[in-house]
Amino acid sequence: MMRMVNLIRKKREGLSHTPAELEYIISAYTKDEIPDYQMAAWLMATFLQGMNREETAALTIAMARSGEMVDLSSIAGIKIDKHSTGGVADTTTLIVAPLVAAAGVPVAKMSGRGLGFTGGTIDKLESIPGFRTQLDKNEFLDAVKKHSLAITGQGPAIAPADGKIYALRDVTSTVESIPLIASSIMSKKIAAGADKILLDVKVGSGAFMKNLPVAIELARTMVDIGILVGRETKAVLTSMEEPLGLAVGNSLEVKEAIDVLTGHGPEELRRVSLLLGAHMLVLAGEAPNIIVANKLLLELIENQKALDKFQEFIVSQGGNPKLITKKELLPEAAFKIDVKSEQEGYIQHIDTAQIGYSAMVLGAGREYKGQRIDLAAGIIMRCRIGDFIRAGQPLAVIHTNDLVKGQESRQRILKAITCSSIHCEKPKLILGTVDNDGFKEYVS
Ligand code: URA
Ligand code: CA
Repeated sequence: MMRMVNLIRKKREGLSHTPAELEYIISAYTKDEIPDYQMAAWLMATFLQGMNREETAALTIAMARSGEMVDLSSIAGIKIDKHSTGGVADTTTLIVAPLVAAAGVPVAKMSGRGLGFTGGTIDKLESIPGFRTQLDKNEFLDAVKKHSLAITGQGPAIAPADGKIYALRDVTSTVESIPLIASSIMSKKIAAGADKILLDVKVGSGAFMKNLPVAIELARTMVDIGILVGRETKAVLTSMEEPLGLAVGNSLEVKEAIDVLTGHGPEELRRVSLLLGAHMLVLAGEAPNIIVANKLLLELIENQKALDKFQEFIVSQGGNPKLITKKELLPEAAFKIDVKSEQEGYIQHIDTAQIGYSAMVLGAGREYKGQRIDLAAGIIMRCRIGDFIRAGQPLAVIHTNDLVKGQESRQRILKAITCSSIHCEKPKLILGTVDNDGFKEYVS
């Protein structure tokens, strides 16, 4: 009989767990047979002592098996999942999913809601009038078979151990741990049933991983887990030193996604979306390499097939079909406030997590699980790192239904952006890839 107190001591002393021990911890905690205080102590021991690759893989598999394992085998073709480790103005899923589906690769995606400074695809989709984000299993599979694309909220049946553990990590300061993040993400991806997984690992001031070496280690850990369970996994490492797009907030991000699918929108968001889409086509065997894949995707934007696919997807999940041509159907905030620069100079640094929090205080995101949000609220950035800004020029525009919250957000945005009198380099947008063969720096 295993006893949790002994397992906590073992990890506290820096020893390694066996797969059977990890299986016990996860299944007993999922069934409420281990109390939160013991799990919290074990999470802190794990945070401080770390885990080796075998432990991390065994933990992930135990978490994936803590609930339903989705079977996508009735859908023809190679199913690819895409997952971002979380960022700000990171609207790539809404762009990449219809793009890749238009190229003939089925996208059966389960997404989450935003928490803290990061946004979530399900909240963004809910800003579309009528759109249904909770499909039952048969509706979901039928939609993918018919339209090559469906996105549904990840229910509590998928990796329930992660839901419970994540909530505890959030309040015990044990989030930023490579084995805990890797097992959290990969357990959900494995349970959700995709054949192959493409990860977008974010690096910088708006990401959990603040620098390249730790991001590479996280990516490497997740890629190894994928290989071990027979789901080919690849990671792209991209910058979160500044918001990826310009729109932060749910309906604002849907508008921006439509802009990119129409061939417009911010260059950085477009580049990362195309890169992710290209890697997905290569993983699916639809293109021999990412140069060919990229060309294919550009054509699908130019000939409007990607936009048509987005429209088809909206209609299939109950959304208003007029949305694409009438973006004013999306909720709009009552007030717009310019955030004017108080200084003159080059934008040197943007505390991107702080920009995310500035949108959250407007009601665009949630501080705690289950909190109601304002789908119209958010921020449109008007500057990027390296830009020259004059005093009085807007750095951002706040969209709000609450002027008091608007002023709090304005103060936060001003504090988050630092100017310099000397010219500043733009951050490198795409840092590299990690696959079976390790890290490859990206040369553009
Ligand atoms: N995203 C997750 O799903 N889990 C983590 O632990 C961190 C980011
Ligand atoms: Ca996401």
